[in-house]
Amino acid sequence: MYQVKARVLSNEKVGEAHYRMKLEVSQIAKDARPGQFVHIRCSSDHDPLLRRPFSIHKCAQGRIDILYQVVGGGTRILSKKRRGDQLDLLGPLGKGFEVEPAFSKIFIVSGGIGVAPLYMVAQEITRLGQGKEVTALLGAKNKELILGKDDWESLGLRVMIATEDGSEGYQGLVSALFERLILSQTSLSLAVYSCGPVPMLRKIAELSSHGGFFCQVSLEQRMGCGLGACLGCVIRGTSGYLRVCKEGPVFDAQEILWDDPDLEIR
Ligand SMILES: Cc1cc2nc3c(=O)[nH]c(=O)nc-3n(C[C@H](O)[C@H](O)[C@H](O)COP(=O)(O)OP(=O)(O)OC[C@H]3O[C@@H](n4cnc5c(N)ncnc54)[C@H](O)[C@@H]3O)c2cc1C
Ligand code: FES
Repeated sequence: MYQVKARVLSNEKVGEAHYRMKLEVSQIAKDARPGQFVHIRCSSDHDPLLRRPFSIHKCAQGRIDILYQVVGGGTRILSKKRRGDQLDLLGPLGKGFEVEPAFSKIFIVSGGIGVAPLYMVAQEITRLGQGKEVTALLGAKNKELILGKDDWESLGLRVMIATEDGSEGYQGLVSALFERLILSQTSLSLAVYSCGPVPMLRKIAELSSHGGFFCQVSLEQRMGCGLGACLGCVIRGTSGYLRVCKEGPVFDAQEILWDDPDLEIR
């Protein structure tokens, strides 16, 4: 884990309230694994005081990309950053996804900005080689909020879209599309990787458990230190308390107690 000053290479608006920031940060880029995150000090003064966590969306040649949605003060400050600005980063942090070569059929299921940590998983799976049937399900409220569809298609995966308003692809929740696709599947060599709002993840976890699938989810709990010290991100798991920043943010779905009221609902 490093604490470094990263230079902003670009900060492009890619959606309604969505931005892609490229950061020059060779140490973090070198070590980052799919599903890990960086903890960013958004402001040089004390507002906001705490760092904000963001998944490492992409990683290449000395740089990382983050893909983020403006929801409050910290992300609003980030959205104003320009090429050449510097940001204080901690990372790479947390436990990422386990991409096991054994699985022949894989579903990647994202809801909204939950797409951010999943792209590197898809890249890793495609690196692992031929013979795998990989389907990426990208869900959002409407087609304007489907981020990076071209990137996904260029990986050579089957990409399916679900929009709540039906403006593109399947009309309805991405979890409902997933349910349709896996109805007839009972395969222990099927893996599911997912990130999105908690109600969606709960449903994906439940369906995967019924099917007996390997399922990992990335949680976006609010964080303090990001380093396992403050216990600000703790949730309840089946074997005790879990720090999302340290034991996660990626968990096996059956490790989570999905009715825990401390799970962030967005
Ligand atoms: C491991 C991890 C990875 C993440 N990756 C990404 C990413 O790649 N892209 C991205 O856009 N966001 C990501 N997030 C969420 C991001 O950290 C928050 O949106 C950000 O911290 C909000 O900061 P803010 O100051 O703009 O908003 P605040 O002013 O802090 O909050 C604004 C509103 O958002 C709600 N909120 C803030 N943080 C969270 C949260 N973590 N979960 C649920 N509700 C929240 C608050 O309750 C409030 O209503 C990630 C979170 C975690 C824990
Ligand atoms: S944020 Fe401090 S322990 Fe997780």
